[in-house]
Amino acid sequence: MPDWLITGCSELLTLRGPVPRRGRGLGELGIVRDGALLVRNDRILAVGERRKVERLGAARRAEKLDFGGRVVLPGFVDSHTHLIFPTSRAEEYEQRILGKTYQEIARAGGGIGATVRAVRCTSEKTLSECASARLREFAAHGTTTLEAKSGYGLNWKNELKILSILQQLHQDQPLDIVQTFLGAHIVPPEFRKRPETFVDLLVRAWIPAVATAGLAAFCDVFCDRGAFTVPQARRILQTARACGLVPRIHAEQFSRTGAARLAVEVQAASADHLDKIGRDDIRALALSNVVCTLLPGCSFHLGAPEYAPARALIDAGVIVALATDFNPGTSPTVSMPMILSLACTQLRMTPAEALAAATINPAYSLRQHGRVGSLEVGKYADLAAFDVADYREIPYYFGVNLCKMTMKRGVVITPRS
Ligand code: NIG
Ligand code: FE
Repeated sequence: MPDWLITGCSELLTLRGPVPRRGRGLGELGIVRDGALLVRNDRILAVGERRKVERLGAARRAEKLDFGGRVVLPGFVDSHTHLIFPTSRAEEYEQRILGKTYQEIARAGGGIGATVRAVRCTSEKTLSECASARLREFAAHGTTTLEAKSGYGLNWKNELKILSILQQLHQDQPLDIVQTFLGAHIVPPEFRKRPETFVDLLVRAWIPAVATAGLAAFCDVFCDRGAFTVPQARRILQTARACGLVPRIHAEQFSRTGAARLAVEVQAASADHLDKIGRDDIRALALSNVVCTLLPGCSFHLGAPEYAPARALIDAGVIVALATDFNPGTSPTVSMPMILSLACTQLRMTPAEALAAATINPAYSLRQHGRVGSLEVGKYADLAAFDVADYREIPYYFGVNLCKMTMKRGVVITPRS
């Protein structure tokens, strides 16, 4: 593979600097005007002002890639997705528009349970093909690394099916996939009358087996009304930690349960959603290294009036990240640029804060910050080039995909050749 000299970056957002980013530091993008990158194999060999990079010996021999004046940034790190499911739940979308709530639909047999039934009767091959097509869409919108959860199998055979599809996809296609075990998504139908027996099964058998087989790096729990309680989530996440899986948690989405405090207690890598979080929770999170991953696609898609208090979180010094939560029930979008638009208008984050929350901070929450999330020497050459003159135009132009090129580990993956 030849070296690449990448020029024509009117604004090169390097995101260099301290990791993770908090408070006022969140919006520091490390912008280089008229920037350039030198890429060798899958890594960044040099990055900085074009005139300086061009002077390097290796730059003279490199193949030239001129973006002609675009904004270039690290590929997005989407740190919360439920990638593996076969079909949409568009009928629920319509029911909600007509007045039903997410919880009413779930109690009537829809919701997560409906996707679990669909996954159980869909072959590995079909699920994998669906996911591959979606991964190409993620890449086309500038995402180069994503986390993906199990949680729509909810019996051993089908949880394993999802985790092995993810493992295979990580090997077979260009994007990096970081795996999370979400066996505790909801209590599966077989255990509806015996939730504690299901928690026993998770902690005695499934979590140790997933950890031993190296099928996931993280373990997540949906801690909310209609899912798992705080004491159940505590048992699950303490077991996960003891087995070597790092906790993540769906917290304070539909009701305030105390899950955010539990995230601090078990030193979770991430607490996600947080729409219903309280003031004391924010203080506790600010003193911790838990990343607060905000998912504004959910409130938008559900037509909910409430969004997470991003401003209060950032101003208190909490580590904030943004993700799609790509899933068929609450946030069917692969588009990080759309999430940036929502972060700006609904969460009142500045465009700079939103961009850092979509790159370096989620990389930290996935423990991938040594490799991705910023454009620095030695890191992967994972980049997205947007057809805009000013980075603020990325969220500004909402509902349109202006990502014109995505590079993953030194290979141009969008547009596909
Ligand atoms: O993150 N909250 C739990 N899980 C998903 C919803 C999944 C579904 O409705 O299928 C979420 O919003
Ligand atoms: Fe989720």
